[in-house]
Amino acid sequence: MRLIPLQTAQEGGAWAANYIIEQINKYQPTAEKPFVLGLPTGSSPLLMYQQLIKHFKAGHVSFKHVVTFNMDEYVNLPENHPQSYHTFMYQNFFNHIDINPNNIHILNGNAQDVEQECQEYEDKIKSYGKINLFIGGVGQDGHIAFNEPSSSLRSRTRIKTLTENTLIANSRFFDNDINKVPKYALTIGVGTLMDAEKVVLLVFGHNKSIALQAAVEGSVNHMWTVSILQTHPKAIIVCDEPSTDEL
Ligand code: GLP
Repeated sequence: MRLIPLQTAQEGGAWAANYIIEQINKYQPTAEKPFVLGLPTGSSPLLMYQQLIKHFKAGHVSFKHVVTFNMDEYVNLPENHPQSYHTFMYQNFFNHIDINPNNIHILNGNAQDVEQECQEYEDKIKSYGKINLFIGGVGQDGHIAFNEPSSSLRSRTRIKTLTENTLIANSRFFDNDINKVPKYALTIGVGTLMDAEKVVLLVFGHNKSIALQAAVEGSVNHMWTVSILQTHPKAIIVCDEPSTDEL
């Protein structure tokens, strides 16, 4: 696992954007051989998305032959709700680049049959062979996507009940009212993430310092799902100075 310690989240976002662009351009994607990119939501990737849009507008990268799979989505939150991950992705990224809408994949948290939805998501990923690069964030309790503490480290895409910690952390997006935060989410599994060829994790801010310590210095265990990245052959953690307080 490579650790890229930078001063600020701004630098971290720029580093991640440059890395993605480098990977896409090196791959030279075509319609027959698209680059498959896994994407996160949350505040951590915002600066990265801004940089990617800037570079797209400057002609440094095209997303025409990029296929995306998002990590997760709330259950029973309307797709057009301001806090749905659908809305987040279109507002912060997809609306500003040249991606083909058919190449965008986001779990449907309103599916009638969530089990089927999750299985189809896994099948769709498999139909592309593998995810070339998965970008992720991390929760304060070390969750990746919505793989909450105690998730199986070999889990696949499925429905998860959110922990109280996550409900509290995410209530900032729901008028600081924990009762308004959806209680369930669909999420890729830890195993789904681990199957990606490369993984880049974005860790910014002092409130992530304990999770970063668990990820880097702790033992691999299912109470800190992020720790599994220690066993990934090509994982990179990009972090800022405040997040390294516990290292
Ligand atoms: C949510 C998301 C995660 C994200 C985490 C951290 O729980 N499901 O994918 O990594 O929040 O979010 P933030 O980057 O806003 O701290």
